[in-house]
Amino acid sequence: MKLEIHDSAHEVSRTVATLIADAIAQKPDVVLAVPTGRTQVALYRELITLTHVRQLNWSRVRTFNLDEFLGVSRDTPGSYRRFMQEHLYSQVNIDPANTDCPRGETTDVDAECVRYEHTIESAGGLDLAILGLGSNAHIAFNEPAAVLVGPTHRVTLDEPSRAANAAWFGGDMNRVPREALTMGVGTLLKARQIVMVAVGGEKADAVKAMVEGGITTAVPASLLQLHRHARVIVDRPAAAKLGVSERR
Ligand code: GLP
Repeated sequence: MKLEIHDSAHEVSRTVATLIADAIAQKPDVVLAVPTGRTQVALYRELITLTHVRQLNWSRVRTFNLDEFLGVSRDTPGSYRRFMQEHLYSQVNIDPANTDCPRGETTDVDAECVRYEHTIESAGGLDLAILGLGSNAHIAFNEPAAVLVGPTHRVTLDEPSRAANAAWFGGDMNRVPREALTMGVGTLLKARQIVMVAVGGEKADAVKAMVEGGITTAVPASLLQLHRHARVIVDRPAAAKLGVSERR
């Protein structure tokens, strides 16, 4: 696991956006796993700017959302599919047929999870998974638990995760769904490259546990220590609780 600490959240966004832009330039049909969240709003803004500056062609890029709320349709305000549409897809020339997301409105959860895993595999697997970090150290929606599940599956969300997502549901936590579909840790660890992005002091404990703690299902992000090509890109507030030598 390679750790990079930047001076500001803006620098983090610019660094990760550059990394994604480079991946597209090198492999025009790159397969990406894409996150949602407050952190990613700035990241996608940078990526759109870079797309214009570097005239990036998204027409063959494939994307898979990390997760989606269960029981919400793709157009529901708050849905992650809609987030991607608003914050990225509507502003680049990606082919809508190349953008996938777990279908939150499904009536057959098991079949949908199998479909999602199968579609990722048929696309050749994930080249690059961009991940955000929950303040409880979740990755995608793999919440801390005694056991973690490998492939895409249904999860019950922890209260901190629902609270962190209230902003997408008019600030009302009661409207945040209690369940979601998420790529599993197996899906994520199979990605050829992983980039974890975290900014802000509210992530400092989770960053410390992810980087310096042991590998445990109680800290889902700690499993990234097992990956050969995982980069953790954070700003100073998110790195504030790391050991002194790490902080430099
Ligand atoms: C949600 C997503 C996670 C993401 C996290 C970070 O919980 N399911 O995949 O990592 O948000 O969100 P934020 O940037 O808003 O802290």
